[in-house]
Amino acid sequence: MFKTRQNERHDVSHQTYPPVDRHVDDPEAAAASGRRKMEWARQHMPILAALREQFTETEPFAGETVGMAMHVEATTANLATLLADGGAEVAITGCNPLSTHDDVSTALNDYESVTSYAVRGVDDEDYYAAIEAVIGHEPTVTVDDGMDMVAAIHEDYPELIDSIVGGCEETTTGVHRLRAMDEDGELDYPVFAVNDTPMKRLFDNVHGTGESALSTIVQTTNLSLASKHVVVAGYGYCGRGVAKKAAGQNANVIVTEVDPRKALEAHMEGYDVMPMREAAAVGDIFVTTTGNRDVITREHFEVMDDGVLLANAGHFDVEVNLEQLDDLAVDRYEARDGVEAFEMPDGRRLNVLADGRLVNLAAPVAQGHPAEVMDQSFGVQAVCVRELVANGDDYEAGVHEVPDELDREVAEVKLDAEGVDYDSLSEDQRAYMDSWQHGT
Ligand code: NAI
Repeated sequence: MFKTRQNERHDVSHQTYPPVDRHVDDPEAAAASGRRKMEWARQHMPILAALREQFTETEPFAGETVGMAMHVEATTANLATLLADGGAEVAITGCNPLSTHDDVSTALNDYESVTSYAVRGVDDEDYYAAIEAVIGHEPTVTVDDGMDMVAAIHEDYPELIDSIVGGCEETTTGVHRLRAMDEDGELDYPVFAVNDTPMKRLFDNVHGTGESALSTIVQTTNLSLASKHVVVAGYGYCGRGVAKKAAGQNANVIVTEVDPRKALEAHMEGYDVMPMREAAAVGDIFVTTTGNRDVITREHFEVMDDGVLLANAGHFDVEVNLEQLDDLAVDRYEARDGVEAFEMPDGRRLNVLADGRLVNLAAPVAQGHPAEVMDQSFGVQAVCVRELVANGDDYEAGVHEVPDELDREVAEVKLDAEGVDYDSLSEDQRAYMDSWQHGT
């Protein structure tokens, strides 16, 4: 339920950052536009709809405060309102300086029990101030995309950790960081690796990233993929999706990898596989999906053709080394909205999309993944929050796999909504599958 605009939000003692509606010129119009986007997404998120029915009735989050740092666009907003409808107080900010939709953030801030601090285009200082403002609500559950909130709590507000039942992490890079933290013995509450579930990774990372990264590149540049050499760096879940969808749009796909099995997999799919130093000389469009740094660097920029497009779909803006590109450039200018041209001494122009930040969320026209895909990811998030609130004491500090039955529950709701029926095991089949005695 949306608040009336007159309602004052609660006082937050160490809130240092103004909520979003002080950043938009016309909050009423922004909120109306945000609500429309949320409503459209909501119509295509049947899992969240089923959970909303359940949570509104049972209020499993009554008395809990959920602190979220995620890409604040329409689908995420529906997760936030779902948790609020389930009784939680929700405080949310962005997990990337460029991915917030200010209209959605404004609408979200108008929702009962939700405060949004997310603003598009913030600098580093304001980005972290907004995370601190969320932490000021003293969350008992955290929901992160990239782990910045978990890190801020551990580094600056360790006194809150005792009252946090647990957290959920949305993306591969966040899970990597959490595992590294856990291995160092520094992670002091349980966190579910939502990213690693089949219901998330096989759909969001593969189809979501594939579709939204490519459609954003095409919309941002108004250029075709057909007949282009599209270089996909990293053939993990995201890279697989980008490669498949690019091939489906008649591009010639080249894959670069550092893992021999992934390189072989890409080769057997029929893609050209080669090192980046070779791919750099033939590629027209580059899409990085490695979660690693310095994937495209000076030696590659030096051999690229005039007019190439450089886009990143990995979590952080470190995959294309923009400092080195800037060093080489004699000029840089905005070539189109969301496209910055770096002019080389010999006149070649290398075009960087969305400041090298994840293109499908940070480009001006970006909308993030399709709603149906995020319905699955956020369905898993929602049941994980429910599990933490109900049984958080059962989980020790550290990174945890999401219990399989929760992932299955979300898949069943989705199949039901899609009207897809499927088989189940008979007792004999179950016994057979569980037995080691049956041979030939
Ligand atoms: P993944 O671990 O499945 O795949 C990464 C692949 O990159 C691996 O196969 C690895 O061997 C390869 N790689 C690492 N360093 C490399 C290098 N220098 N050159 C070439 N290949 C290299 O990870 P996943 O799930 O595909 O995620 C990749 C990134 O995308 C992460 O940062 C993740 O957080 C992010 N992500 C972005 C989304 C978006 O909306 N744009 C959605 C989901 C994930």
